[in-house]
Amino acid sequence: MSGAKRLSGKVAIITGGASGIGEETARLFADHGARVVIADIQDQLGQTVAESIGLDRCSYTHCDVTDEAQVKSVVDRTVATHGLVDVVFCNAGVISPTDQTVLDLDLAAMDRLFAVNVRGPAACVKHAGRAMADGAVRGSIICTASVAASTGRGKRVDYTMSKHAVLGLVRSAAVQLGRFGIRVNSVSPSAVATPLLTVSLGMSEEEVEVAYADLAKLKGVSLKKKHVAEGALFLASDEAALVTGHDLVVDGGFLCSH
Ligand SMILES: NC(=O)c1ccc[n+]([C@@H]2O[C@H](COP(=O)([O-])OP(=O)(O)OC[C@H]3O[C@@H](n4cnc5c(N)ncnc54)[C@H](O)[C@@H]3O)[C@@H](O)[C@H]2O)c1
Repeated sequence: MSGAKRLSGKVAIITGGASGIGEETARLFADHGARVVIADIQDQLGQTVAESIGLDRCSYTHCDVTDEAQVKSVVDRTVATHGLVDVVFCNAGVISPTDQTVLDLDLAAMDRLFAVNVRGPAACVKHAGRAMADGAVRGSIICTASVAASTGRGKRVDYTMSKHAVLGLVRSAAVQLGRFGIRVNSVSPSAVATPLLTVSLGMSEEEVEVAYADLAKLKGVSLKKKHVAEGALFLASDEAALVTGHDLVVDGGFLCSH
């Protein structure tokens, strides 16, 4: 399929598309023929990214995924503008501000993280699913989970809990939306050098890649945003026509040893 446009004519919404994995995916989806709507809270950055992709094939809109009304509004406006929505990538997420373990769990901080990482995808899947079902669109919904969705971790218990919840959402939605022809999957990276990690760790992209290099069992390649974006592209495309309820792990074999 190299060279072929795999999302030709499709309309895609990407939450958290102003930065990191979402930005990379917005560029890749647009290059594959999709019209992309970036939904994020970083307005200036999101607008700059949309302009750099080209306003004929990408737009930016403000959307705080913790607010269901804003999520519904983005989906409704996308359908009003483009006639339908084919792909929704529920990708916006945050990491715990501290390394908290269960013994020092700050429940208020956990609620704030859950509002983005769990409530956000839940609202996105709900309104994406409704719009696709109402429009008789055999669409693709993809959530960004994490390897933290499938393992216990020594720290950041709230983040680990939130990503486990994303898998529950994906699997339930896949079961419930299958009768409409709607596919629901997740993509699960291990550590990728995006602002989520570089800012929280106070490291450069290169330092993050070195620090996490041992996670991957597959040697000679560093996990980059583009690897995750390519996983999302597969799940969004018709090549994945029979793939639903699946967690596509992009981790160089990290989870194999856990
Ligand atoms: N970077 C990693 O190592 C890694 C690993 C596994 C999973 N993930 C997941 O990948 C996803 C993308 O993260 P990233 O690494 O690209 O980080 P990032 O910080 O570069 O991008 C996250 C984006 O989400 C946006 N966002 C945050 N809160 C929001 C809200 N309330 N409403 C709308 N947008 C909001 C941010 O503005 C940002 O643009 C997240 O769900 C994250 O949990 C990241």
